[in-house]
Amino acid sequence: MAEESFQAVWDAIHERHTVYRFAGKPLPEGTIERLVESAVWAPNHRLTQPWRFVVVEGAAKEELAALRGRLARERAEREGRGLDRVEAQVAEFREPAAYLYIVRQVAGDEERQREDYAACAIAAYIVQLVAHGLGLGVRWGTGLMARHPAVHQALGLDGDQEIVCFLGLGYEREGDDHRRRRRPASELTRRLDQHLEN
Ligand SMILES: Cc1cc2nc3c(=O)[nH]c(=O)nc-3n(C[C@H](O)[C@H](O)[C@H](O)COP(=O)(O)O)c2cc1C
Repeated sequence: MAEESFQAVWDAIHERHTVYRFAGKPLPEGTIERLVESAVWAPNHRLTQPWRFVVVEGAAKEELAALRGRLARERAEREGRGLDRVEAQVAEFREPAAYLYIVRQVAGDEERQREDYAACAIAAYIVQLVAHGLGLGVRWGTGLMARHPAVHQALGLDGDQEIVCFLGLGYEREGDDHRRRRRPASELTRRLDQHLEN
């Protein structure tokens, strides 16, 4: 690969980071199309193309934020906790300009399921990289808003579909804290170039 394209890929990988706070600014026209058009080029074993995408924006995003609030309240009540954080959680959920839900079409044996999950996760990473290239940020979400049956119902998912993640998309708010941390790869790598263990 030419040095210039290598540098572009290297920079994108190293500069990409999870965005936690978003500026309230809409996405440019055609952004989501570019993201999903890239995501479908993720490697996937046996070309199962297990991903489906659900874009949530506008009034649908507001309704999903309301559902976020209802589920957070129910959970807090169930666990005997106060409701003081619920409002902030709803406000945080409303921040991204849109959500891209990545859904896995559930099929096959355990091995296929693992492979399909991996493929969907790669698709999510491609969305992150391309969004970064477009000057946008992404927050990868899992947990309640991926798992709860009320969310599945609200998104109109079938029984054989599973939410892998929901990606909050938008412009990063200035002054957001990146929290970058990694162990050096050299600490995590063993090189075998002589005899293998037997
Ligand atoms: C499978 C998976 C699930 C994640 N779930 C969440 C989540 O629910 N909430 C969140 O804020 N970040 C979530 N993240 C983002 C990670 O917390 C984030 O990637 C990590 O802190 C490393 O930071 P970086 O993305 O800036 O390198 C998830 C990431 C992955 C790969």
